Amino acid sequence: MMNSSDTRVFDWRDTWLVGHAQLDEEHQAFAQLLAALLAAPDDSLAVCLDELISHASAHFAEEDAWMRRLNFPAQQCHMDEHAAVLRSALGVRQRLNGGEIQPARRFAAELAAWFPPHVQHLDSALASWICKQAWNAKPLVFHSRARAVTAAAPSFV
Ligand SMILES: [Fe+2]
Ligand SMILES: [Fe+2]
Repeated sequence: MMNSSDTRVFDWRDTWLVGHAQLDEEHQAFAQLLAALLAAPDDSLAVCLDELISHASAHFAEEDAWMRRLNFPAQQCHMDEHAAVLRSALGVRQRLNGGEIQPARRFAAELAAWFPPHVQHLDSALASWICKQAWNAKPLVFHSRARAVTAAAPSFV
């Protein structure tokens, strides 16, 4: 049975909210797909990885388009991170096709370590930029105290 110290547990945390409804919704969906991938038995890994790749491709493409359209500063390093994650995911997917399970497991664990700082630093800066361009204001983030207290701590923190 898994517990909060299990590396295959990945619970959403409200500290990852960036204050932009669409981005927050997509990040929650990303975290859900990642949690499913981390917990997947061997015979479900391919399906879970495909779903995550499909969601991540669309989400990253959207953020990249926003950055270009709104002339976001330092956009290249943000886009490079997206591209590196997708490259790695597709490589791991190919190896999974060839019957290699461990690269997919390692990728899932690395993605769980990558996701929080990416969202909290790069995506949150993008959310601020979008709000500034649209309303000349900063995004407001409301953290749910109850959820934050009850959420299990991911083991990589
Ligand atoms: Fe994002
Ligand atoms: Fe991003």
